[in-house]
Amino acid sequence: MHLPDYKEARKRDIRPYKRIDFLENSEVKNKYQGMTFYLKTYGCQMNEHDSENIEALLVFLGFSKVDNYEDADLVLLNTCSIRENAHNKAFGMLGRLKHLKQEKKNLLVGLCGCMAQEASVVDKILRDYKWVNFVFGTHNMYQLPEIIDKAIEENKQQIEVFSREGDLIEGLPVLRVNDYKAYVNIIYGCNKFCTYCIVPYTRGRERSRLKEDVLAEVEKLVDDGYKEVTLLGQNVNAYGKDIYDDYTMADLLEDVAKMGIPRIRFTTSHPWDFTDRMIDVIAKYPNIMPSVHLPVQSGSSRILKLMGRRYTKESYLELFDKIKKKVPGVSISTDIIVGFPGETEEDFLETLDLVRRCKYDNAFTFVFSKREGTPACRLEDPVPLKEKEERLQRLNEAVNQYFLENNKKLVGCEVEVLVEGISDKKKMYYGYSDTNKLINFSSRSELTPGDLVMVKITDAKTWSLDGEACE
Ligand code: SAH
Ligand code: SF4
Ligand code: F3S
Repeated sequence: MHLPDYKEARKRDIRPYKRIDFLENSEVKNKYQGMTFYLKTYGCQMNEHDSENIEALLVFLGFSKVDNYEDADLVLLNTCSIRENAHNKAFGMLGRLKHLKQEKKNLLVGLCGCMAQEASVVDKILRDYKWVNFVFGTHNMYQLPEIIDKAIEENKQQIEVFSREGDLIEGLPVLRVNDYKAYVNIIYGCNKFCTYCIVPYTRGRERSRLKEDVLAEVEKLVDDGYKEVTLLGQNVNAYGKDIYDDYTMADLLEDVAKMGIPRIRFTTSHPWDFTDRMIDVIAKYPNIMPSVHLPVQSGSSRILKLMGRRYTKESYLELFDKIKKKVPGVSISTDIIVGFPGETEEDFLETLDLVRRCKYDNAFTFVFSKREGTPACRLEDPVPLKEKEERLQRLNEAVNQYFLENNKKLVGCEVEVLVEGISDKKKMYYGYSDTNKLINFSSRSELTPGDLVMVKITDAKTWSLDGEACE
């Protein structure tokens, strides 16, 4: 048994890591043929992409996928720790699985992802969820085949979580959700330690993949006909810093752009590491999409300092203006937290002021959620939840107004859309524009997911646009 330990997870020293290729363990390959699995994913794109590896590992074991958890022999939850409601959702699902397990004695239940890295969660599982068959963390996903095999063979709960990162594993099998757009990890973990955030504890310190490994993965995607790659990391802008002296995110973006894939996206960018060269590269290559996610978190420099964000309202705005100026037509989205401990009405008004100034194209807004073990958890927090929720509502009204305002500017324009499919509700095609806006549109000719088409915008809504494909 290996249990999570925050003391270990908190260590920030840079240790050399090895790159190890995933070795196929032929003894368990196809061993569980005939059994089925249901995988439920919570959280961010990183977890979604991990689930693409997890599915492939389960298929390697011989499992096949079902769409309903009640039909599965194995239910695996890939969990998220970012806010309390992510926790609640996973525990709610565990509650349903407990009932199911009373009827189906042989049902296997596993938990992995960020919650598995939390000592308090694992304690709870050891204490109150003895019927959960196995738990593994974010650093040892590659061990899934042997952990599941052991859980079945020994018929005993397996808890295998490492709090330190260990080596970087390459060559894990992957079953991608789409055959036209793909996620590519470029950097794992996060060293920023924003005071409210649990990610550095659940995902470890920053580790960049070798550029050769990233470029080889993109090349394969190009060969397979993929139209879009999204370069992934908690802070992609830090790419390379841990392993190279003179190769940065700007260089990687440029090298990927030169490979000729039609669309490149990247997420997430911490404002601190956003260099001028990166902006120049985004502006220079038409296949790097003019769409930047630039989380601000707060418009109050006082709160930003308490959050440990390493920029001020002014320096953020300077960067924001630079990106807007140098990248024509760029859309910028953000994340905002309201109700950080000690946030006053004045601090909140600074956030509203910044929102009015930036007129974001999209924004993900949250009420601060206490994460055990993070520094912000220990700060005094006198503002009642009700007041925080009111702030969130006022903030949402402000940001929504600009989504619509920005969208209206596109009416009459022609934009390029990557087709994703036909929506069930509207019976219209849908896809995303270069600036990452959801477009619902009609087309006289038949289209398939992965087609790139020009669409004339006819109407603007708050969260989407309507249009007609140009013939
Ligand atoms: N690495 C990304 C963020 C990943 S988490 C970045 O720094 O940009 C996604 C978002 O969740 C964050 O940007 C933040 O707005 C929100 N978030 C993180 N921790 C939170 C917490 N404790 N309470 C509320 N929101 C939180
Ligand atoms: Fe969390 Fe900050 Fe790292 Fe983003 S940059 S993952 S908010 S610690
Ligand atoms: Fe959640 Fe972990 Fe992502 S905490 S947001 S799944 S990195």
